[in-house]
Amino acid sequence: MTLQVLHRVAELSDALDAERRAGRTVGLVPTMGALHAGHGSLISRAAAENDVVVVTVFVNPLQFGAGEDLDRYPRTLDADCVLAEAAGASYVLAPTVQEMYGDGSLTKVSVAGSMTEVLEGASRPGHFDGVATVVAKLFAMTGRCRAYFGEKDFQQLAVVRRMAADLSFPVEIVACETARDPDGLALSSRNAFLDGEERAAAPVLHQALEAGAALIQAGERDPRVVRERIAAVVAASPLFEVDYTAAVDPGTLEEPERLEGDVRLLLAARLRSGSARLIDNLGTRA
Ligand code: PAF
Repeated sequence: MTLQVLHRVAELSDALDAERRAGRTVGLVPTMGALHAGHGSLISRAAAENDVVVVTVFVNPLQFGAGEDLDRYPRTLDADCVLAEAAGASYVLAPTVQEMYGDGSLTKVSVAGSMTEVLEGASRPGHFDGVATVVAKLFAMTGRCRAYFGEKDFQQLAVVRRMAADLSFPVEIVACETARDPDGLALSSRNAFLDGEERAAAPVLHQALEAGAALIQAGERDPRVVRERIAAVVAASPLFEVDYTAAVDPGTLEEPERLEGDVRLLLAARLRSGSARLIDNLGTRA
């Protein structure tokens, strides 16, 4: 099927209603564009599991705080469409801010509680309200579907799952493993901001998480010791400054007294040059 690029929400809703009437299932891959192989793997999986796939490309201003990288966030719609089509997408929805929010929305979707207040929520106040609001709108526009999210944004995945369940959207959330470069760096649109030296140093994030996981495998059960170890590995690189490290229960994102069963290790670090802030995470078992 040739890719159709739409800019109007109503066009997408009409097209998907027709697809469903014809008995076809819909996969949704929400993105902010600057698509890379990680997005490609989400789209390919959605194409393997559904009859039609919609990729949304929208740099959502609501989820950026003051002083964050909204203005310089890469916008590469033509290349995004080429990648989306090659990976099996049937539709790209690329709306303007005006199309999404009109003259400003008075309604916001907010997932209350510690899930949105810790980690990224603590470093980026309001970020998850912006994410929950835009994803709720995308779910409302798309209707019944499977929606594919990368585990790279692990906290976002948890927030979206909770929001979709709480608001009874007819959407099945599908979590997809983080795609990585061969040296371990998690694929991210923000990797485009790194210069050569920063790119060469960036795998330290994954190495730090692996060091944390190795400590747990060796019998460490104190989450404080594990997160300090992760921070120490990152801090050994002069280019990075640690924002947070965490060893948490993957369901609640809370730090237990003692690590037991499934554990998620998470990390955020800034380049000292100011070029980017990167996040990564890894699952392990205690
Ligand atoms: O992960 C992203 O790219 C964005 O946060 C999302 C889910 C598309 C919402 O803008």
